[in-house]
Amino acid sequence: MNARVEAPRPLAARRGGPLRGTVRVPGDKSMSHRALMFGAVSVGETRIGGLLEGEDVLATARALSLLGADIRRDGPGQWRVTGRGVGGLVEPADVLDLGNAGTGVRLLMGLVAGHPFTSMFTGDASLRNRPMGRVIDPLTRMGAKVTARSGGRLPLALTGSNDPVPITYRLPVPSAQVKSALLLAGLSAPGTTTVLETEPTRDHTERMLRAFGAEVSIGRRDGVTTIRLTGQPELRAADLVIPGDPSSAAFPLVAGALVPGSRVTIENVGINPLRSGLLTTLRDMGADITIAGEREQGGEPVADITIAYGGLRGVDVPAERAPSMIDEYPILAIAAACAEGVTVMRGLAELRVKESDRLAALAAGLAACGAEAIVDGDTLTVIGRGRPPAGGGTVTTHYDHRIAMPFLVLGLVAERPVTVDDARAIATSFPDFVPLMGSLGAMIG
Ligand code: S3P
Repeated sequence: MNARVEAPRPLAARRGGPLRGTVRVPGDKSMSHRALMFGAVSVGETRIGGLLEGEDVLATARALSLLGADIRRDGPGQWRVTGRGVGGLVEPADVLDLGNAGTGVRLLMGLVAGHPFTSMFTGDASLRNRPMGRVIDPLTRMGAKVTARSGGRLPLALTGSNDPVPITYRLPVPSAQVKSALLLAGLSAPGTTTVLETEPTRDHTERMLRAFGAEVSIGRRDGVTTIRLTGQPELRAADLVIPGDPSSAAFPLVAGALVPGSRVTIENVGINPLRSGLLTTLRDMGADITIAGEREQGGEPVADITIAYGGLRGVDVPAERAPSMIDEYPILAIAAACAEGVTVMRGLAELRVKESDRLAALAAGLAACGAEAIVDGDTLTVIGRGRPPAGGGTVTTHYDHRIAMPFLVLGLVAERPVTVDDARAIATSFPDFVPLMGSLGAMIG
């Protein structure tokens, strides 16, 4: 991606007055990728409102154009996709470069696995280091052929099958990306593709596929969720409005809880129960949160969330909650560093294979800011002292948006400013983070 050939862009945040106001965060990243992809394999014109125009989603849009979908932007967040129907994508004439987007590459691998042509995938340095074996294994069982670099890493070539086999697959890791890749490959397979999960992960694919006309059944018995997709449906174009991303809302929300005197409302945020573990945890910590105006949008529950400043206390976050807040541990660790008492976060193995090794990046960043944290296996423990840490450090972000934004939030309360060594990755998911925080009164720049 272009950003990677530019110089790193350091950014600092400092303590100031209270944060106040009402804002909307950009569209949900998970849903934005899916809306474009499902539109591309539907018949007719899909209209999408509230699409996240971050680098990750734009990379997916470019890849889908290379696969033959007609994708147009009508205005801010307003997009139109004219699809080619299930099985109708065409061989891309160039390498599909998904930049920093794990969701983009893994779901697209599933989407093309039932198409009899070869696609080449790559990404930026971070994505080229992430494990693709978790998707390659089940897609190979369905009939795809994949040649990847050592360790199942990008770049890779995937030749889809003309005759994909519907399989039953138990997820070895709690990953919505793996589940979704399988279901998307299952669209081209005759019969039923079945995915079993013991730890429920975000269900945007299941919900949105139904909105496009697919038959998806979900059952839960003896602690196992069974998702069944009937293959070869005729997907019909849909009109979708994408709610605000709860993973982006997490930053102004936690900032509101930490900066004295603050009161912040985020309107129109997704509150899907499989994404709302952070709200549960913040409430356990004693945060003053009000959820109002619950309604449905784009097949998902949404609401307006208000948070007011108030002292937080340390808590024990159970491993079972991890999938419902997997992207929110970095910002929770910042809240924990300012809370009174110890916060223990368990079951975080997956954090090691995100855009960076987030456990290592968090521990190093917290230490650089004068906070105490211990990583032991897949458990992160943060010792809160009932007041913000000293700050004053420079945090290495490893081109990871969810390391950059949390430490900038810490800078808003720490005694001395906090600098992140490179803020460019923020553009992957939340391009307007700095002006939005500024509109609430935050001093970032
Ligand atoms: C996502 C699933 C999660 C999450 C990622 C988005 C998705 O990844 O961390 O930001 O859209 O399906 P895993 O599936 O690897 O847990």
